[in-house]
Amino acid sequence: MKKIALVTGGGSGIGRAIALGLALLGSEVFLGGRDERRLQVVADEIARQGGRAWPCAGDLADDAQLRKLAQRVLDEGGGIDVLVNCAGSFKMGSWESEPVEDLDELYRITLRAPYQLTQLLLPALKARTGQVVFINSSAALMAGAKWGAYSAMKAGLKSLADSLRAEVNSSGVRVVSVFPGRTATPMQERIFGLENRPYSRENLIQPEDVARMVVAALELPHTAEVTDIFVRPTKKLA
Ligand SMILES: NC(=O)c1ccc[n+]([C@@H]2O[C@H](COP(=O)([O-])OP(=O)(O)OC[C@H]3O[C@@H](n4cnc5c(N)ncnc54)[C@H](OP(=O)(O)O)[C@@H]3O)[C@@H](O)[C@H]2O)c1
Repeated sequence: MKKIALVTGGGSGIGRAIALGLALLGSEVFLGGRDERRLQVVADEIARQGGRAWPCAGDLADDAQLRKLAQRVLDEGGGIDVLVNCAGSFKMGSWESEPVEDLDELYRITLRAPYQLTQLLLPALKARTGQVVFINSSAALMAGAKWGAYSAMKAGLKSLADSLRAEVNSSGVRVVSVFPGRTATPMQERIFGLENRPYSRENLIQPEDVARMVVAALELPHTAEVTDIFVRPTKKLA
């Protein structure tokens, strides 16, 4: 049976690299994100590799669009083997200045969307002893100044993943959280700008490095489960 994967945030950065990696191993990939053009570019790259992918444009902060995405995967894919919750957003600001609306926005994309999407797809994942990946962040484990809202949401995401694992391992479903440090993606380039640092992608983790670890974890025989992946840039920022 063909393997079906859904990668949210599949149009860029870490999600794109994971989608390409999964497609190379034979999965057919549904790509989630808002920017249809970028999703199409990744789908075309996958087609050039000899694989198949479908751009599924939609805003995961919108319940109706999120439900539509889940239904499309089930209808057109006929089931799902791997769900990669990768889409994410970043905000930073001090306690004194950051508006509470930033927290609301981060909550919808970092916690609510993966929670709801996983819930909607869980029966289908169980039916195929599937796997769920949560792209978390090293920020979940250490909250620096001005990173409170983002770190809090990622810490919450770890709790969701851990509780899901405790519930579904008995059905054979595996759950892995990935905690990358700074990775060379459009989001990280923007963070460097917000921090007034010169951006140098060559000193950061590459998205393909993260993807290789994720794919390796997913490919393990089902007798073993990788629960958490920690990856850091070798050279630390000054
Ligand atoms: N880069 C790092 O250093 C780093 C480190 C640790 C963890 N992470 C995590 O890695 C994940 C991927 O980020 P990235 O670094 O690869 O950055 P990125 O290239 O900016 O990717 C973020 C993706 O999320 C999608 N997205 C954002 N809001 C969305 C929404 N409302 N609905 C649907 N899709 C949405 C974006 O697509 P559209 O814009 O097309 O919607 C984009 O493809 C995030 O969860 C991030 O927190 C990144």
